[in-house]
Amino acid sequence: MGGFGRAYKDMAAMFLKILVSLLLFFHKKLAASGSENHEFTFNGFRGANLTLDGVASITSSGLLRITNATTQVKGHAFRPSPLRFRDQTTGKIFSFSTTFVFGFIPEFANLSGHGIAFLISPTKDFSRALGSRFLGLFNRSNNGNPSNHILGIELDTIYDPEFEDIDDNHVGIDINSLTSINFHTAGYYADDSGLFKALNLKSGEALQVWIDYDGHEMLLNVTLASIQMAKPQKPLLSKIIDLSSVLIDPMYVGFSSATGSLPTSHYILGWSFNMNGVAQALDYSLLPSLPRVRPKRGSKALTISLPLASAGLVLIVVGVVAFIVRWRVKYAELLEDWELEYGPRRFSYKDLYKATKGFKDKDLLGIGGFGKVYKGVLQTSKSEIAVKRVSHESRQGIREFVAEIVSIGRLRHRNLVQLLGYCRRKGELLLVYDYMPNGSLDKFLYGQDKPTLDWATRFRIIKGVASGLLYLHEDWEQVVIHRDIKASNVLLDHELNGRLGDFGLARLYDHGTDPHTTHIVGTMGYLAPELTRIGKATTITDVFAFGVFLLEVACGRRPVGSIASGEELILLDWVVENWRKGSILATRDPRLGDEYVVEEVELILKLGLLCSHPLPTARPSMREVVRYLGGRAPLPELSPTYVSFSVLGLLRNEGFDDYIMSYPSSVATASIISGDR
Ligand SMILES: *[C@@H]1O[C@H](CO)[C@@H](O)[C@H](O)[C@H]1NC(C)=O
Ligand SMILES: *[C@@H]1O[C@H](CO)[C@@H](O)[C@H](O)[C@H]1NC(C)=O
Ligand SMILES: *[C@@H]1O[C@H](CO)[C@@H](O)[C@H](O)[C@H]1NC(C)=O
Ligand SMILES: *[C@@H]1O[C@H](CO)[C@@H](O)[C@H](O)[C@H]1NC(C)=O
Ligand SMILES: *[C@@H]1O[C@H](CO)[C@@H](O)[C@H](O)[C@H]1NC(C)=O
Repeated sequence: MGGFGRAYKDMAAMFLKILVSLLLFFHKKLAASGSENHEFTFNGFRGANLTLDGVASITSSGLLRITNATTQVKGHAFRPSPLRFRDQTTGKIFSFSTTFVFGFIPEFANLSGHGIAFLISPTKDFSRALGSRFLGLFNRSNNGNPSNHILGIELDTIYDPEFEDIDDNHVGIDINSLTSINFHTAGYYADDSGLFKALNLKSGEALQVWIDYDGHEMLLNVTLASIQMAKPQKPLLSKIIDLSSVLIDPMYVGFSSATGSLPTSHYILGWSFNMNGVAQALDYSLLPSLPRVRPKRGSKALTISLPLASAGLVLIVVGVVAFIVRWRVKYAELLEDWELEYGPRRFSYKDLYKATKGFKDKDLLGIGGFGKVYKGVLQTSKSEIAVKRVSHESRQGIREFVAEIVSIGRLRHRNLVQLLGYCRRKGELLLVYDYMPNGSLDKFLYGQDKPTLDWATRFRIIKGVASGLLYLHEDWEQVVIHRDIKASNVLLDHELNGRLGDFGLARLYDHGTDPHTTHIVGTMGYLAPELTRIGKATTITDVFAFGVFLLEVACGRRPVGSIASGEELILLDWVVENWRKGSILATRDPRLGDEYVVEEVELILKLGLLCSHPLPTARPSMREVVRYLGGRAPLPELSPTYVSFSVLGLLRNEGFDDYIMSYPSSVATASIISGDR
């Protein structure tokens, strides 16, 4: 044991060294790329240094409000210092990329005008430009004039035949003129079907735009999506444009907006820009939220007429009383004082009962580690939901747990299954989630009745799950440890985007009855070896499970499964073995056929090994993982001393086969040093 301990320490020291040199390396790289200052990111605009004019302002919550619910106004917001877009030696226009999240809030639902434009312009002075249908960009005399040198991407909500608009909800590329050279109804092409899906610019919801220009190909792409979605692969607009005659150095970047006769507020929530690189992804958790659109309220007249015959009345009263008694038993729920503040997050049992048509077996979506899940449709909003019934015998800790669930309900990320709320009954908790029409990923990986996912989709799902997990670990206001990452906890939305579900739920079992005992919750095959020693889930134990998940997706095998000979195959060991032999690619899922990108499959397999490293200190943080996946940092080579997974095998002999295990918390004090926090 002593020898093993020393080897372990040596190895830990070595990995720390590697880690430190890696960190130094990235630090230098970052410092070098930042010196040109051609990259910037605003996750909200609080304290931002922008040049504003007209009615533009920055609200106290950090929204950039370019117009302010007033008719016939305009506003502009620019980055104060200009940028150079042209390579001085070759004269070519650089590639650039920008993304922003915006929202139009009309004063009256669905009545919005006019719109906004992202623009690149030689001047910040638009005092002579007109508002309304001129969007604060041009006036009658200079519209269409090549001397404007303006590139605009317009988001326009008014149909104007004079400028050859197609409708009152479109996106267009404008060069020196409001008559767009390329345009399309607002929307996106679904990644799975390729079909066009419209989006409503006037919905009052936040939408995101990406503008990418490839200077070499001279290709300008514009992509639109709602912020719950990943960036669609196919752009909405894609046009070859030689910008070398349009852009003259230096140029300002910013936004212009105008209203006409409909009072509308045009907001930007976040913005990033990068010259010669991909614009940094916005951090949705940091974006300020949009004000709500005031709903149009219809008056609801309710008339109830009762027959007043006295004999009949008695009968009715008796009937009503009996009905109420039955009704109260059927829909009984637990509601205590401390829950009152969670009002909006609480669903009534009656609504859930009706939504699921009484929790009928035919609406059963599945049985998970924590309980049965039913499909339902809320009667009021007609939205589809999934209701998880978690049995909870002990009342202890429920208050803390519900507080946590409610706080988790505020998490918003396109790669997390949205928790809508909860309901509590005697001995059971009901959790209400967004319904995910494509079910869980494991069905696609192992099921017979689902089609095989191609590599591009698998890669996208992996990236999505990584970004969701990064959000839980580092980007939200508190650290959320998932504790049970696995293919069956990754759900697929209607576009086959991966979304993590069930986060934080494992916590329910942490509030045990014995305060001196910590329970380890998780699933066999995904549990980091140190969990048994430390007995405490951390972000780094999540990373371990994420590594196993990567192997699962790339290999199409369960973490622990039996092979033809009847032997047990531990996926991680098997991949390590093949990696040692130089045949790591042989472990890929044979169902992928030849349609895969060798570098990507290799990246995922090696990253899987790195994440599931037996030494916690050798594992990357999720932020690093996301960088490796995005190709923004090279994956470090695995050390030849990588110990095989048989360490875990060893531990399994110590009784690793229970779903939930108890460990005394006296050993739960050791802490784990994570990668870069
Ligand atoms: C919009 O801004 C203008 C100029 O700053 C101001 O006069 C006007 O009252 C504002 N309107 C609203 C509705 O806030
Ligand atoms: C804003 O940026 C401009 C141009 O870079 C600079 O001159 C100015 O001092 C900045 N203002 C503040 C308040 O930082
Ligand atoms: C707004 O318009 C859209 C599309 O025309 C429609 O589906 C939606 O119901 C309208 N909303 C309201 C509140 O009128
Ligand atoms: C239109 O705008 C241009 C550029 O700002 C300006 O030079 C010109 O005088 C304006 N024309 C009118 C009629 O306002
Ligand atoms: C633009 O879109 C095309 C078509 O999808 C794609 O091939 C190209 O890589 C995209 N270019 C940029 C700069 O995003």
